[in-house]
Amino acid sequence: VPCFLPFLSYTEAALIPLVVHMLQVGHPCFRPSFRMTTFHVCYSYFLYNRCCLQTIENYAFEDLCNLSTLILTGNPLQYLGPSAFFGLTSLQRLIAVETNIFSLADLPIRHLHTLEELNVANNHIDSLTLPKYFTSLTSLRFLSLQSNRISYISKGQLDVLQERKGPYLTLVLSLNDIKYIQPGAFEGIQLQELSLRACFNNFTVMKDCLQGLAGLQVNRLILGEYRNIGRVENFQNGLLDGLCQVQMQEFVFISFERFQNHTDTVFECLLNVSSIRFVDLYLAQVSTVPEFSKVQSLECKLCKFKEVPAVKLSLFRKLRVLRITKSKYLTNFLNGFKDLPSLEVLDLSENRLSLTRCCSSHLAGAPNLKHLNLSFNYFISLKEPFGCLNGLLSLDFQHSILKDFGVMPLFRSLTNLTYLDISYTGVQILCECVFWGLESLQVLKMAGNSFKDNSLASNFRNLTQLRTLDVSSCKLLQVSSSTFADLQNLQNLNISNNRLKTLDTTTYLPLQALTVLDFSNNQLTFLMHTALQNLADQLIHLDLSHNMFDCSCSHLSFFEWVKKQEQLLQNTERMVCSSPVNMKNVTVLNFDLSYCQLSITLVAVSASMALVAVLIMFLIYKYYFHLYYAVVLLSGCKHSSERGDTYDAFVIHSSKDVDWVKEELVKTLEEGVPPFRLCLHYRDFEPGVPIISNIVQEGFLSSRKVIAVISSHFLESHWCKFEFEIAQSWQFVEGKAGIILIVLEELDKAMQRRLLGLSRYLRRNTYLEWKDKEISKHIFWRQLRTALLDGKTWTHEEVKQM
Ligand SMILES: *[C@@H]1O[C@H](CO)[C@@H](O)[C@H](O)[C@H]1NC(C)=O
Ligand SMILES: *[C@@H]1O[C@H](CO)[C@@H](O)[C@H](O)[C@H]1NC(C)=O
Ligand SMILES: *[C@@H]1O[C@H](CO)[C@@H](O)[C@H](O)[C@H]1NC(C)=O
Ligand SMILES: *[C@@H]1O[C@H](CO)[C@@H](O)[C@H](O)[C@H]1NC(C)=O
Repeated sequence: VPCFLPFLSYTEAALIPLVVHMLQVGHPCFRPSFRMTTFHVCYSYFLYNRCCLQTIENYAFEDLCNLSTLILTGNPLQYLGPSAFFGLTSLQRLIAVETNIFSLADLPIRHLHTLEELNVANNHIDSLTLPKYFTSLTSLRFLSLQSNRISYISKGQLDVLQERKGPYLTLVLSLNDIKYIQPGAFEGIQLQELSLRACFNNFTVMKDCLQGLAGLQVNRLILGEYRNIGRVENFQNGLLDGLCQVQMQEFVFISFERFQNHTDTVFECLLNVSSIRFVDLYLAQVSTVPEFSKVQSLECKLCKFKEVPAVKLSLFRKLRVLRITKSKYLTNFLNGFKDLPSLEVLDLSENRLSLTRCCSSHLAGAPNLKHLNLSFNYFISLKEPFGCLNGLLSLDFQHSILKDFGVMPLFRSLTNLTYLDISYTGVQILCECVFWGLESLQVLKMAGNSFKDNSLASNFRNLTQLRTLDVSSCKLLQVSSSTFADLQNLQNLNISNNRLKTLDTTTYLPLQALTVLDFSNNQLTFLMHTALQNLADQLIHLDLSHNMFDCSCSHLSFFEWVKKQEQLLQNTERMVCSSPVNMKNVTVLNFDLSYCQLSITLVAVSASMALVAVLIMFLIYKYYFHLYYAVVLLSGCKHSSERGDTYDAFVIHSSKDVDWVKEELVKTLEEGVPPFRLCLHYRDFEPGVPIISNIVQEGFLSSRKVIAVISSHFLESHWCKFEFEIAQSWQFVEGKAGIILIVLEELDKAMQRRLLGLSRYLRRNTYLEWKDKEISKHIFWRQLRTALLDGKTWTHEEVKQM
């Protein structure tokens, strides 16, 4: 349905219900008589173009009370009902280009009080007569009758404008083939703007018609032609003579190809104009400028100058603004301006200038210059400082190659400068002194240059007023911690497109006023915790896109922070991970935090498992004997019935007490009556078997009782203590009191308790003290025998012996 394409190409979602509605009432494009009956929604933009509409009946737009723009372009209207536009109570723009309109009087728009723009270009209107209803269009400020058939403009046709209240009209009559303007037709008429481009067939017609503008008061008059439509063959003297009778503020002369260098009479009738714009003129020289001109602003855009006509232009004594731009032959600026005390703005941008000794000599005649724009030229050599221009407020050199810059403080005298743009000027800043003296500077743009050692040092000392700093694309590798020390007023920092790896807090800490930070396109892998806090506190715009984020779980706090800062962070969809490999090109926002939390638990679990394992190993190492014993004991328990009591007692003693054991204990017990069999490690342990097995197998498992010979040596010996501990547990397992303690000497009780926890056993078990007196010995042996006899079974042999 090709007719619908204009609708659908408008992405305004509000149009969709409209389209749906039209499908319901039938396709409007193919209905010769189309009348919309019900619209419950009013749209602010209504596009009706090229729908083959021929008829708009009364009240067609009745309910569109909020509609502000109605475009009917391209519909070959045959019939417009007298009430066709009723109900459009908010309409501001009516675009009826190419709609087959023959006369302004045919338009039923009298009641459109809110209408500001009426565009009826490309129709068949042949008369400029403005109908009476214009007096009621009190908001109208723009009327285009471009490309119609108006050829005669006579007196009285515009009279309605004199009665009309409201803003002055902009009237576009370009591309009409005007043959004659009756003198007086514009007498007493006030317009905002009058456009008469490509209206005249030849020099004479144009000259005569301009005479017909006499008496017009207009803010801006636009004359000339179009690039591709040139009709007047040549500019000759006297062409603009008629303008002497016209009162205007601004004169625009545009696209006049065959200008041929004659400016002799161009300015004659423009002395009282305050602003002149020459656009796309074949103007290579300024020949004469009359004295006493009041021109304050002069612009030459796309002209053909080869050299800045500074000397001639200096004759415009009142000149305040001069712009010569986009002139592709303009390469030279040899002679400077003379005596232009009012000149404040000089814009020489987008030419091909090569300036070898900028700029004092060129601008000495304009001592009050405030704004100088030399951007987009070829090259500029700054050998001479700006001695005489200390009133400069802004200086723009961007995209011109700056020579002899970066080694000296050339701007020292520019103490009032607030704006400096040296972006992409191929400069390498070698000296920290380059910006010295710029104490008022608020904006410094220097993208696309470079710094010594690719690092920012104390280059911005004393720039305390700086609000905006652009050091993007400067190949920076690092920023020293003193760089921003004086920039406490900086609000906007663009340090993108460098190769910075860190954004460390101490460096950026002095930037107390910073609200916008562009750190995109660097090599940042993550942000430290401290940085995260500081940045979030003060910034309202932070761009970290296109960095090299390391999306491993060790930076979990960073990812959590990113998720919380969606308001602050810009271009988050372009904050992607570049490592580890499996995360490549995942956006940081889509980074799955639970994945890390999972692995944290995993790590925690495995760590604690490892800890437990280590603990177990340690315990095994420390209690190896005990464990071994326990194992043996358990296996022993199983066979306890099989176990024979080979010995009556296993003697635990320190090897230092071996004499007492041999001389007293063994002699008395083994050779006495009844005889007891003692297990002694020095005698009964099997050689070649690990000592621990011996202790367990021979000692405990084969003995009924344990005799512990307690002495200070015993307490010092680890082996004795170990054996004693085993004896205790053995006793516990067997469930009977089986330890006989013989205390050889007087012992410190505290020491006993501490080392062995002995006292418990001293109470529960048989406790004998050895004394060297005969009478005591007697009692001792009796008690010992009694203790050993407890639970003893006798073999036949022994009974026989007894
Ligand atoms: C017109 O716009 C106003 C305010 O935007 C709104 O309140 C009103 O409902 C609109 N009228 C229609 C008919 O859509
Ligand atoms: C200087 O001229 C260029 C090109 O016309 C323009 O983009 C820039 O904004 C101007 N600079 C200033 C400070 O106005
Ligand atoms: C910075 O300013 C101080 C005091 O205003 C001044 O003494 C010092 O010389 C200046 N330093 C530079 C590098 O301009
Ligand atoms: C920073 O500079 C780059 C180009 O150098 C530009 O594309 C970007 O928009 C700037 N950022 C801001 C916040 O102005």
